[in-house]
Amino acid sequence: MREGVNMSDTNNGAGRRIAVVTGGGNGIGEAISTSLAEAGHAVAILDYDGEGGKALASRLNAAGLTARFWQLDCTELDAVEGTFAEIREELGDPAYLVNNVGGHARTKATDFLDSDVRTLDHMVALNLKSTVYCSRQVVKAMSEARFGRIVSIASEAALTGGPKCWDYSAVKAGVIGFSRAIAYELAPHGINVNVVAPGATRTAALAAWSEEQKAAVARAIPLGRLGQPGEIAGTVAFLLSEEASFITGQTILANGGRWMV
Ligand SMILES: NC(=O)c1ccc[n+]([C@@H]2O[C@H](COP(=O)([O-])OP(=O)(O)OC[C@H]3O[C@@H](n4cnc5c(N)ncnc54)[C@H](O)[C@@H]3O)[C@@H](O)[C@H]2O)c1
Repeated sequence: MREGVNMSDTNNGAGRRIAVVTGGGNGIGEAISTSLAEAGHAVAILDYDGEGGKALASRLNAAGLTARFWQLDCTELDAVEGTFAEIREELGDPAYLVNNVGGHARTKATDFLDSDVRTLDHMVALNLKSTVYCSRQVVKAMSEARFGRIVSIASEAALTGGPKCWDYSAVKAGVIGFSRAIAYELAPHGINVNVVAPGATRTAALAAWSEEQKAAVARAIPLGRLGQPGEIAGTVAFLLSEEASFITGQTILANGGRWMV
């Protein structure tokens, strides 16, 4: 047991719940972890970046909020199982899971015409396996509690495609298909499953983009700018909230209107 807060009433009282955020230490995940902690939930931050995740948990705890950090590679099933067992023991059963781990191939991104298709394995693991593995850890207890919310972060690229995106678009479309399938299966168990598909959002993931590239992308967005991590976190918070209780199996684009459903 880590340093002691009694979590035994979490998930019961006054809307205070146990939330897990994967890749929760930086970028969009950091904004999601922060907004959930600020809403009074106990947040398990999972990240393979020990420094970012630990620093964030410390900042949140110093502000009187409740957060714990676990260093974890969400693509490793045995480690995922072990970490979720620890979360259950130390905090209790999660009512919220946000599958945020994922990413574009970045410097390894290629045109399909010139691609080494072996890079696909990494993209499947990072974006799709991590989502499936972590979702599998929480559904049994959510089903027993007759309540749960799972939100996974895909990308508008799943719907639009894009340059050097063949692998990223494929696996993020996989996240959407997986989420629809389990939304259908888990609805009778009181578990809502949804997806947020961000457009270009200002995080370290865009570090390799020049300011000119960012400006060109912003010009193609009706709202005229890139997204902020907090705006994606706000969409996630809505889908986790009681106001979204009749929404399941859906994909919400948070992309400044660049592509409209
Ligand atoms: N930033 C964007 O423009 C954008 C656009 C669309 C979708 N997304 C999606 O949003 C999500 C978050 O993106 P971001 O921009 O915040 O990325 P980021 O790289 O800034 O942050 C990702 C976080 O996940 C962690 N992480 C990466 N692989 C991990 C693993 N295997 N196990 C555990 N932790 C791991 C990293 O350490 C980091 O803390 C991703 O799924 C990404 O595909 C981002």
